[in-house]
Amino acid sequence: MNILLGISGGIAAYKAPELVRALRRRDHAVRCVLTANGAKLVAANALAAVSGQPVYDDLWSADGHIPHIDLPRWAHALVIAPATADLLARLSLGLADDLLTTLVLALEPAKPVWLAPAMNTVMWEKPVVQAHVATLAGRGARIIPPVSGNLACGEQGVGAMADPERIADAIA
Ligand SMILES: Cc1cc2nc3c(=O)[nH]c(=O)nc-3n(C[C@H](O)[C@H](O)[C@H](O)COP(=O)(O)O)c2cc1C
Repeated sequence: MNILLGISGGIAAYKAPELVRALRRRDHAVRCVLTANGAKLVAANALAAVSGQPVYDDLWSADGHIPHIDLPRWAHALVIAPATADLLARLSLGLADDLLTTLVLALEPAKPVWLAPAMNTVMWEKPVVQAHVATLAGRGARIIPPVSGNLACGEQGVGAMADPERIADAIA
């Protein structure tokens, strides 16, 4: 399968290269799309090296390609891991203010979308975040829920991104 991997600005973005490798071990081709904040937490060069594909982070391209149209056409499925509270809100509202949110709107409805939210426990438990998750699930997104663990913020609780191997298995 051709998988588009969206990576937003959660600390779990540092696990994205591991997820790329887990997907490739399952014979998927993976192209990564970074939000601007995701790019602050994981290097595009690392993602390019492990995916063997270009990495995309810009809505605007002057090379004759339109990434928010071409990438969803290439993809058989979209995975967003980690999905931040911010990204969940933007997707829930149907915003199209960067490459990742715009290509989600341009993805054909029959193509599956998996979301792996990850954030601090207090954020995860906020009714507004839960409402966005419920909205997206109601529209057909498959949610890979965060797990309990030691969070990067120092707290213990639910909010850690699911393990990359588990995400890769869920998609299979
Ligand atoms: C070090 C650091 C770690 C962060 N980790 C998370 C996180 O795990 N989950 C989350 O929802 N937001 C996290 N944020 C906040 C997001 O980066 C912020 O809400 C940003 O607007 C997300 O943008 P994006 O969704 O476009 O990537 C973190 C911010 C910083 C500075």
